[in-house]
Amino acid sequence: MVRSGGLVAFPTETVYGLGASIERPEAVARIFRAKGRPSDNPLIVHIARRRDVRELASEVPLPARRLMAAFWPGPLTVILKKAERVPAVVTANLDTVAIRMPSHPVARAFLRAAGVPVAAPSANRSGRPSPTTWEAVWEDLVGRIDAILIGPPSEVGLESTVVDCTGAVPVILRPGVITRRMIEAVVPGTRYAGHKEQAQGRSPGLRHRHYAPRARVVLEASPQAVGDESEEARKRAAWIGIGRPPPGISKVKRCRSVAEYARTLFDFFRACDREGVEVIYCKPVRPRGLGVALMDRLCRAASAASK
Ligand code: TXA
Ligand code: MG
Repeated sequence: MVRSGGLVAFPTETVYGLGASIERPEAVARIFRAKGRPSDNPLIVHIARRRDVRELASEVPLPARRLMAAFWPGPLTVILKKAERVPAVVTANLDTVAIRMPSHPVARAFLRAAGVPVAAPSANRSGRPSPTTWEAVWEDLVGRIDAILIGPPSEVGLESTVVDCTGAVPVILRPGVITRRMIEAVVPGTRYAGHKEQAQGRSPGLRHRHYAPRARVVLEASPQAVGDESEEARKRAAWIGIGRPPPGISKVKRCRSVAEYARTLFDFFRACDREGVEVIYCKPVRPRGLGVALMDRLCRAASAASK
C-alpha cells in the first residue's frame, strides 16, 4: 500500500508514525495535508536496514557511524547531508536529511515489507500531542489516511532523540530517551543545541507549536500554586506527576517513575481533552537523563497553551 502511494500509520517504540514512500512525492505531500503540517517542517526517513543510509546520505561522518552502531535499531534520529535521491518535499528543501531505524517489531516488519525508505512524522494532527496508541491516531486522522497498523501502546511515549551529525561535533536538537550521557559515552563532546541554534532553524520543527492539549498546561511549582484555585476550578483540573497530588483535583495520574511519566503524558493530555478538563497541572521532574526530554515536552506544552 505504501509502495503504491498510500498513507499508513504504524507503531514505533517512541510514538506512532504516519508513513509514505519517499519515492512517491505526491504521497509525502499528502502527509502534510492530512496532518495540517507546515510544509517547512521536514520529515524523518525511516529505514529497515543500516545499508539504506548510503542511498539517503551523501556523507556519513565517523561520529554518525558510531551512533548508528550503538543505538540502531532504536529511538535515535541522525541528521546527515542528503543524497540526490531524497526529494525536497521530504526535507522541506533543506540539504540535510533525518534518518532513523526503529526497533519496534511491527515497524520493522512494515519497513521491510515496504521495501522503500518511508518518510514519517508522528501520526497526529499538527500541534496536538504525538499519538502513543492506535486509538489516538484514529482520533486525529480517521478519514484522512489509508490504514493504521495496530500495535500496543508505545513503550517510550516521547519522540526520538534527534542528533545533528553534519558539524564537527554532534548536536542534540531534540532530547529523547537516548540521553546526552549515553551519546557522550559513544561520541565525547556531544552537546545540546543552544536557543540561538534552535531559533536559526537547525531543527525547523522546534519553531512550531507542539505537544499541546486544548487544556491549559501549568508546570506546578508547588502544591500551594494549585491551592490558589477555587474548589469549583479544581473540579475541572487534572494533575500528573510523581509523588503526591494536591487535594481536591478530580483527575489524577500518579506515576512511579520518570519513564512511566514519559510513557503516559501524551495519552493523559488527550484523555483530559476528551473529558473537558480546563487546566492540567504537571509536576516538574529533575532535568537528568530522560527527565531532560520530559521537561522539554512539558515546557513546550506549557508555553504553547499560554499563547
Ligand atoms: O520518534 C520519532 O522521531 C517519531 C517516530 C514516528 O519515528 N517521529 C517524529 O517525527 O517525531 P516528527 O516529524 O514529529 O518530528 C521530526 C523532528 C521535527 O522536529 C523536524 O523538524 C526534525 O525532526 N527534522 C526532520 N528533518 C530534519 C532536518 N533535516 N534537519 C533538522 N531537523 C529535522
Ligand atoms: Mg510530531
